[in-house]
Amino acid sequence: MLAFFDERYLHVLAPVMLEIEAEARGTDYGSVSWSTRGQVERMATHLDLGNDSRLLDIGAGAGWPGLYVGQRTGCHVTMLDFPVHGLKLALDRAARDSVAAHASVADGALLPFSEGVFEGVIHSDLLCCLTRKLEVLAECRRVVRPGGRMAFTVIEVVPDLAPDAHTIAVESGPEFVDTESPYADVLAETGWTLSQVEDVTSEFQSMGRTLLQSRESRREALVALLGAENVEEMIDRNWGTVASTEEGRLCRRLYLVEA
Ligand SMILES: C[S@@+](CC[C@H](N)C(=O)[O-])C[C@H]1O[C@@H](n2cnc3c(N)ncnc32)[C@H](O)[C@@H]1O
Repeated sequence: MLAFFDERYLHVLAPVMLEIEAEARGTDYGSVSWSTRGQVERMATHLDLGNDSRLLDIGAGAGWPGLYVGQRTGCHVTMLDFPVHGLKLALDRAARDSVAAHASVADGALLPFSEGVFEGVIHSDLLCCLTRKLEVLAECRRVVRPGGRMAFTVIEVVPDLAPDAHTIAVESGPEFVDTESPYADVLAETGWTLSQVEDVTSEFQSMGRTLLQSRESRREALVALLGAENVEEMIDRNWGTVASTEEGRLCRRLYLVEA
């Protein structure tokens, strides 16, 4: 999964990728998650940050959504991820937008920060890309100050599916979409209070369709950039995700929580 993202950030600002991103996501950060501008606005409202606040974006990629929140609120943004190229793009974008930011190459399950140093934490479809979900949520809780807030989105398998449908959902979603326990339980276990959960599956579904059409219509340019095999795999996976979402096997939720 991490090699996949390493490779992905090398191309996210290529013209064809930016065209697809603008059409499907309405953003221009080189984003690879499914958070729309509207969802990030709601996340930012919940985080309630000002220009003296510090925000941590885990799995920040090329800077979406942390830098957007930084520009909107004036807060300082710390962006954490593994792929160095993505973080370099993020720092360039921060400089261009005059957002105070720095980057850290580290594991979200082992944060290199002291207790209580952030007012807010944000992550976009991070938890379905890793196995150590409980450790990440516990680390987020440790580094946020008392009363601090977190906002995140995640793709999930719809609960209580028949075993066959569950298997299809897991195969068609992000690599680590499956969970041992519901996120609400893991949040409670790691010391978070749930303020609100929003089901954003229908937006996810329509974005999936738009992304697919957008990729299909630029197949030739994508093949020239990424190679035929990678494009086939990307479009096949895209179809699988859209089908699983439309057939009620995958959902996507937005969680707003408080320390
Ligand atoms: C779905 S992408 C989202 C990227 C970016 N926030 C965006 O919206 O475009 C998930 C990101 O999480 C990162 N990631 C995966 N496991 C991680 C971990 N253990 N610690 C930190 N980041 C991780 C990946 O490298 C990837 O950049």
